[in-house]
Amino acid sequence: MLTLHFRLWDVYDVAVLLSFTLCMCHIAGTVSIQSDQHSLTRSVQEDAFFSVNVTCSDIPTFRWTFMSSSVSRTIGTWQPGVFTNITEDYSSRVRAHRNGSMSLSDLRLQDAGYYVLTVTDVSGNSKDAGFVLKVNEVLFEDIQYLSVSAAALGCLTGLLMLSVWLMNKAYKKIAAWRRRKQMPENDATELQPL
Ligand SMILES: *[C@@H]1O[C@H](CO)[C@@H](O)[C@H](O)[C@H]1NC(C)=O
Ligand SMILES: *[C@@H]1O[C@H](CO)[C@@H](O)[C@H](O)[C@H]1NC(C)=O
Repeated sequence: MLTLHFRLWDVYDVAVLLSFTLCMCHIAGTVSIQSDQHSLTRSVQEDAFFSVNVTCSDIPTFRWTFMSSSVSRTIGTWQPGVFTNITEDYSSRVRAHRNGSMSLSDLRLQDAGYYVLTVTDVSGNSKDAGFVLKVNEVLFEDIQYLSVSAAALGCLTGLLMLSVWLMNKAYKKIAAWRRRKQMPENDATELQPL
């Protein structure tokens, strides 16, 4: 009887401890970042929009950092409605949104790399989210490729038209030659009985 009583208490204790821990985890995890797209591919001069959905129990502070193989620098830090501090190099190209999202316009090849968003709440809890940006230099190549393929297509059409015309001419010649060749024979066979 006594051991069963203790066992029941043990189970109860464990349950309380577990729910308390879960509760603590829930309180500690007040910051969360969601994003549909963690990888973007854009061309030079295009814009990139790093879209995030942040949930935070109080006013969050956003910090965007750029990282590539050679550099790591802060793009900007802001707290909606409190302050916005965009690094000078980026001030003309970056737009800080209230929901933590960031737009980067007029992309350059050097913009390719990793973008990390750090969201910190008032009590110091923070979460990170990473994004990869690829910047292609395809715009000019695309136009070149298009004009080259258009020229090739034009050549092919010309060749096709020429061969059709030649075939038509050859067919007419053969037909005429056949007619000429058959005519005397017909005349001869028709003339014979006479
Ligand atoms: C964040 O804000 C920007 C600009 O107001 C908006 O275009 C974008 O859709 C928002 N993103 C989300 C996930 O709500
Ligand atoms: C803005 O950010 C830069 C770079 O992170 C920092 O050096 C500067 O002190 C900040 N300025 C303000 C007013 O917070």
